[in-house]
Amino acid sequence: MKLLVVNGPNLNLLGIREKEIYGPQTYDDLVALLEQTFREQGIEGEIYQSNHEGALVDRIQQAYFDGTAGIVINPAAYTHTSVAILDALKAVHLPAVEVHISDVREREAFRQISYAGKACIKTIMGKGFQGYVEAICFLKEYLNG
Ligand code: DQA
Repeated sequence: MKLLVVNGPNLNLLGIREKEIYGPQTYDDLVALLEQTFREQGIEGEIYQSNHEGALVDRIQQAYFDGTAGIVINPAAYTHTSVAILDALKAVHLPAVEVHISDVREREAFRQISYAGKACIKTIMGKGFQGYVEAICFLKEYLNG
């Protein structure tokens, strides 16, 4: 089973950006945790990060053609603005789980809409990096039926 993890803008600066919200751990720490999770779960995983909306759309589209079975996505700020990412998720029609490190429900009004979330079967937020682990395990179980 092949899963794709997609991370949006500024997540490459984890460990530097707003540590009081996102914590002290770095993007490399997140990648290490995801790789460990893939190993432990016996999943083939790929991890992708971009600061560019179109590049994220391209990577989601590619998932349709490369045998990806499911997508874990944290679109970051594009969550709240990007109809293009929503449409890409709908287009490839792969089961997707939305993850947010912080609990966006507790944050600003402009973060209360999630476009991408409308194409996801589940949303996990406010659980830090552990939310990604939960999302991978959920998708594995979902896909194994
Ligand atoms: C985020 C929440 C978004 O509102 C924000 O723009 C991010 C990160 C999160 O993981 O908590 O960049 O997606």
